[in-house]
Amino acid sequence: MKIKIEIKESGKANANTLLFVKKSIQFSAALSKKALTRAETILDGMEDGLFDDLDLLDLDDKPTIFVNAAKERGLTSLDQLRTAGFRLGKRARKKQMHCVSLMLADAAPEQVKAIIHGLHYSEYVFDRYKTKKQKSFEVTYEIVAQDNVKEFSKLAKEVAIEQASITLTRDWINTPGSDLTPVVFVAEAEKIAKETGLKIKVRDFKALQKEGFNGLVTVGKGSPSLPYLVTLEYKPTKAPKDVHLALVGKGLTFDTGGMSLKPASGMWEMCCDMSGAAAVLGAIRTIALLKLPIRVSAVLCLAENRIGSNAVLPGDIFTAKNGKTVMVDNTDAEGRLALSDGLAEAGLLKATHIIDLATLTGAMVRALGYAITGFFSNDENLSTQILESGTSACEKFWPMPLEEEYADGIKGKFADLQNIGADAGAISAALFLKEFVPENTSWSHWDIAGTAFVTKEWKYTTYGATGIGVQTLVELAKKLGG
Ligand code: BES
Ligand code: ZN
Ligand code: ZN
Repeated sequence: MKIKIEIKESGKANANTLLFVKKSIQFSAALSKKALTRAETILDGMEDGLFDDLDLLDLDDKPTIFVNAAKERGLTSLDQLRTAGFRLGKRARKKQMHCVSLMLADAAPEQVKAIIHGLHYSEYVFDRYKTKKQKSFEVTYEIVAQDNVKEFSKLAKEVAIEQASITLTRDWINTPGSDLTPVVFVAEAEKIAKETGLKIKVRDFKALQKEGFNGLVTVGKGSPSLPYLVTLEYKPTKAPKDVHLALVGKGLTFDTGGMSLKPASGMWEMCCDMSGAAAVLGAIRTIALLKLPIRVSAVLCLAENRIGSNAVLPGDIFTAKNGKTVMVDNTDAEGRLALSDGLAEAGLLKATHIIDLATLTGAMVRALGYAITGFFSNDENLSTQILESGTSACEKFWPMPLEEEYADGIKGKFADLQNIGADAGAISAALFLKEFVPENTSWSHWDIAGTAFVTKEWKYTTYGATGIGVQTLVELAKKLGG
């Protein structure tokens, strides 16, 4: 599985591609007048149902794929271009086309970027466990850029870096729990640190106990694969002095629910419960390789939530890193306990902005489904920046309230706090996290339980991990870095 993207002034491929929205041809500078007239006839025919999306027809004596970039409902035009790129990539592979040229000279940079993203997405396959792997076949895409060769080449390189990170993130998430344990995840983080030159600090179980990171200790002690806290730091020389962005990820490599055991049906999907940590690792890899001018740290809260003779019991009370005591009412509400340590670590790093990503609640899945990530924030300005970053990244976000009326629900009877509330599951979880956010810090919590892992093919992602969060975090880092 491979694609090659070449940015050229003009195309020489054995097939052309024409992306269009309704009847208006979008990027047709490379076509002759005769071909333009014929293309219009074909597009008319498409409206009448004579031709279909992805039909291969002759234009200027060249086979040309007609891609309808306005097929899906509810997507922005950039996201439609991504899905168009995805469908084109699939078709090119199926038809065994070695070289396809895309006439994009008239396109805006963000449109070209969207199409290239789609082409990359069409390559993803998780076949590590299949005895029969997908046949290797390389497609070369020539992007006909005319005067924009330099600009488009730069962005193609950026997309390739970002997509490689997304692929890593998705692979980590799709890997079964017994093959991606906390210690294996640590090794993956070490690989990324080596590749990118990031500084890395790994705290093992002993260090966590010694330093009082008791959220992770409590959650992870029931498993033979013990918990870890991993911190990666990216500190470029050119960056605003007053901004330090910390990305904190929930990294439950598997969540059985613990003593408050989950039902058997669909439990296997809890291999996705480290999606927050995977996204955060993918994002800092991208940020470092793109050399973005902003200080960023990534904190991975790694543990496995298992039943075992050492596992935490409902009713157990522990003291969190910030000194607050917590009664574990339900061992399945473990993510917020693990994250309490990640938030504490972000405080020790003196982060000015903290974003945590977590597959935190089933309540969020029910509220917003697989297409929208619900987020919470204590800073309106940051909320606006997140929404804008999400739009650029084609990832949908929706602001949720940190409703104080529900705060009494997480007050503990014998301890300061308890880990589940009475009402509004996703909000209660966010209110719990708020108790551990260091003072005077802009913070946002992204509940990606619904959006990290999909149980059907959707847009340009296959069944399983979506890689949600990586791109929005990168866009946000660009914004905060100025
Ligand atoms: N990892 C789950 C949340 C989840 C649900 C992730 C669906 C992905 C898909 C989390 O640890 C959990 O079990 N939450 C409980 C909390 C409850 C016990 C208060 C939930 O939402 O059911
Ligand atoms: Zn759980
Ligand atoms: Zn969980």
